[in-house]
Amino acid sequence: MSFPETRMRRLRRSESMRALVRETTLDPGDLIYPLFICPGKSIRHEIGSMPGVFNLSVDEVVREAEEAASLGLGGLLLFGLPETKDEQGTGAWDDNGIVQQGLIALKQSAAAKKLVLIADVCLCEYTSHGHCGLIVEGRNGWDVDNDPSLELLGRTAASLARAGADVIAPSDMMDGRVAAIRRALDASGSAEVPILSYASKFASAFYGPFREAADSAPQFGDRKTYQMDGANIREAMREIDLDIAEGADMILMKPAMPYLDVVRAARERVDVPIGAYQVSGEYSMLQAAFEKGWLDRDRTILESLLGMRRAGAGFIVTYFAKDAARLL
Ligand code: PBG
Repeated sequence: MSFPETRMRRLRRSESMRALVRETTLDPGDLIYPLFICPGKSIRHEIGSMPGVFNLSVDEVVREAEEAASLGLGGLLLFGLPETKDEQGTGAWDDNGIVQQGLIALKQSAAAKKLVLIADVCLCEYTSHGHCGLIVEGRNGWDVDNDPSLELLGRTAASLARAGADVIAPSDMMDGRVAAIRRALDASGSAEVPILSYASKFASAFYGPFREAADSAPQFGDRKTYQMDGANIREAMREIDLDIAEGADMILMKPAMPYLDVVRAARERVDVPIGAYQVSGEYSMLQAAFEKGWLDRDRTILESLLGMRRAGAGFIVTYFAKDAARLL
């Protein structure tokens, strides 16, 4: 049957009718809010390229967590800005490190019972060179040394789990890291802690503002020898298969908006829970358009997140988490 018997507009006539036939939902519990923990007390330092996003000292992180819990958010994704950096990134696996301190404080708060505390695992925030693994001499004068970095990532994951992380989320893109982290967690009494691997993480210009927020820009070169080429979806599927074979319990796809086809392909291919990460640059470009009055803030935020859910993401990491929860 076609027009005039079929009229698609019949089911769009009222908000209650549209709600009845709506295919995709968005719930505060699907949203994960990233936080950047810094040393000090009572510190809320706004990131220039990310209005509304702050570096927060541990006490402020706890306050932020309480707000996140009262809004019904699903969880927090924790990043750290250590006091000092070095060649190896030793601050990452220091049991008294900045994210470890944050986790210990959060675990004592009532908010922690309502939120999943996810610890990002990477070395780039902790290394003086800003790369995600150890640096050795290589073909461009330098290279990121895969295998010795695995040990350090494993140590970092074990330390974060001991401090109270509910989920370990490696974002470094070294080969074999999921298996190495699984072994390290199992060997240190954290066999119950799941791994959310950033299985397909593309070398993206959209991470620019994050590198200001986390002070993690590479001091030389770029991340193209370990993060993926944005042109490749088949390679993304191989990364996902490998991470799941190595023991990933869930996978995260990032960036989100320019890679929604990858999210959809992943959803159709595997049965583990899938998250999408609306990264810093996606946030910043929307914020800039809101500031200029070019886009309607509330509607655009929800539409951008709904698109990720429709593409197949079960949950979404987003700097808009609190704004979106208030709108829902
Ligand atoms: C650490 C890491 C990055 C992001 C998440 N984990 C930065 C990068 O790879 O350079 C980016 C998140 C964002 O842009 O919001 N490796």
